[in-house]
Amino acid sequence: MAEEQQLNEDSKRNAGQMGAKVVPRGSKEISNILGDRRSSYNIDGVDRVVVDEITDQKLVGIPLIDKVVIILVVLFTLLVFINFSFTSNDAKEDPDIEKTLFITKIIELVILILFVLEISIRCIDVGPITYFSDLWSVFDALIIIASIVLIILDLNLEGDAFTTISKVLRGIFRFLRLFLVFRKVNFFNIIFEQYNQVKKINNAGTRYVVRSPVEKVIEIMRDLADQFEDPDIIKQLNWGITHISNNTVYEPIIEGKKSEALGWLYQQQQQQHISQDLKRSMSSDTQFPDESHLPEQLKLDFDQNILNLDYDYFSLFQKYDSSILTHLMCYYFQQESLFSNLRISPESFKKCVDKIALSYHKDNLYHNVIHAFDVTHTVYFFIQKCNFKEIGKLTKIDYSILLMSAAAHDADHPGLNNIFLSNTRHDLAMTYNDKSPLEQHHAATLFRYIRETDLLVHFTLQDFKYFREKSINMILSTDNAMHGKDYNKLKARLASNDFDPGSKDKGICFDTLLHAADISNPFKPMKNYEQWTFRVLGEFWHQGDREKELGLPVTMLCDRRTTNVAKSQIGFIDFMVLPYYNTLSQILPQLSEFIEQITENKKAWAEKIEHYQTLLNTQ
Ligand code: CMP
Ligand code: MG
Ligand code: ZN
Repeated sequence: MAEEQQLNEDSKRNAGQMGAKVVPRGSKEISNILGDRRSSYNIDGVDRVVVDEITDQKLVGIPLIDKVVIILVVLFTLLVFINFSFTSNDAKEDPDIEKTLFITKIIELVILILFVLEISIRCIDVGPITYFSDLWSVFDALIIIASIVLIILDLNLEGDAFTTISKVLRGIFRFLRLFLVFRKVNFFNIIFEQYNQVKKINNAGTRYVVRSPVEKVIEIMRDLADQFEDPDIIKQLNWGITHISNNTVYEPIIEGKKSEALGWLYQQQQQQHISQDLKRSMSSDTQFPDESHLPEQLKLDFDQNILNLDYDYFSLFQKYDSSILTHLMCYYFQQESLFSNLRISPESFKKCVDKIALSYHKDNLYHNVIHAFDVTHTVYFFIQKCNFKEIGKLTKIDYSILLMSAAAHDADHPGLNNIFLSNTRHDLAMTYNDKSPLEQHHAATLFRYIRETDLLVHFTLQDFKYFREKSINMILSTDNAMHGKDYNKLKARLASNDFDPGSKDKGICFDTLLHAADISNPFKPMKNYEQWTFRVLGEFWHQGDREKELGLPVTMLCDRRTTNVAKSQIGFIDFMVLPYYNTLSQILPQLSEFIEQITENKKAWAEKIEHYQTLLNTQ
């Protein structure tokens, strides 16, 4: 709060120095983009991703101290009413009433002392300066102290000597006590409101809010731009925002004349723009028909089920083995007329996809050809059912990139993760210097097969480069270690004024779609999701067993003796999948109608936590 004020003051001071006029807030542009969040920067001065975990304690219930205070407030109100209903004359006439009033006063005194204790705890918690910065808190404390003094006086000055003083004081005393009660009740209304809001969020399924410094920087700059009228300053701030949200802050700005001295720089740039001549020289007149030669039965099955998320492809695998991936890819390529449009030979294509399919290890419980099928199927679902084909203005090459990258994204996966490969100095970790060795290998494997089967020989150099760049980026972005950074980059792009999934942001959308499909288990109906969960955890546990044998630290979720299956999935949904899918639905609005499945699945897992805990305890 103090930092926010400081920031506002700093920006006002800067505005003054620059001679610009400070104008009231409220530009349409800013409120559209920042929505409700703009009033809360929540600047914590820490340069890291902020994960605001709404803890179970805060979510599931009000903290203990607040519960106690609520009970005390209720009790206190009752006592005030008991006191109100009797006069001192009643007490004089009836010894029982006198006794009752005496006891209520003692209880009141105890409660008031407990209120003092409560204030002390809150002071220790937030610091006395912060606590008493609210004048109501000061008043509250004064009332309590005054009430204690008055009760002590009341107990001690029962004699006739102080009757008048006592009467006046009692009037004030009762008024103050009631005021105190109303203050407390009001305070708890606020707490309940907050509690209900948090509960609402929890019911919606999002328990973690992940924010990054880049989002805050953009927010701050937008708010700052809103404070000026001078077009030059606004232009400069917008220039800054554009570069931050485009992730181009480290790109060189070339000033001065184009000369040999800068040749090394231009050489790089030139690579990006291959001349039209070369483009033409690479093209040929070869044509290929759009045929897939799929088994008739399978084609019918695909026609009926290809856009269903509950498609039972596990049974297909039993019948067709790894060739099911080739069949699926041929089906898509034929549907989208990619053979003819991209001049891809169906023969080469089959050979290439067969190689990819066979590279998947049959003995991997999770990273096998069915996973490749599942991910490709999900990417196609995003393209067709969520309309990415229109949103991303997909060309034929784009289709081929998305589908081929999905099919090959885990090619030749050894069933062990990057951490294990690095810890055991595996060949892949050595080759790729511990930098996403698996994903580098999947991408390299794809391009090895493409070359070996002459798959893209009829592509122009420009098209091939486009295919290669996009596909490599997509596969590398499936490394979960990249999730946090990539997710923040995506949100920064979405927060910009010029997010365009059909051109400049196509690449980031491709990466997002593949990564989303790769973590899509919780997005599927429970029957499929449960299968995948046992498979993925089974593979993790197999790795954990090997880690134990080798005396290596056991990776998270890889210990079969401690991993609660249900909890692992709730964490996966809360931390990764749900926030990511919510963000993705900003790009693909039609996705929203399917996201409910994730929350439903989460609830189903929540009901099974105890069951899995019992299983662990009885091991
Ligand atoms: P991979 O398919 O290589 O990339 C995405 C990763 O997310 C996947 O490997 C697993 O490591 C992880 N993952 C996918 N689904 C689940 C799940 N249901 N539970 C836990 N981890 C998962
Ligand atoms: Mg992978
Ligand atoms: Zn995968």
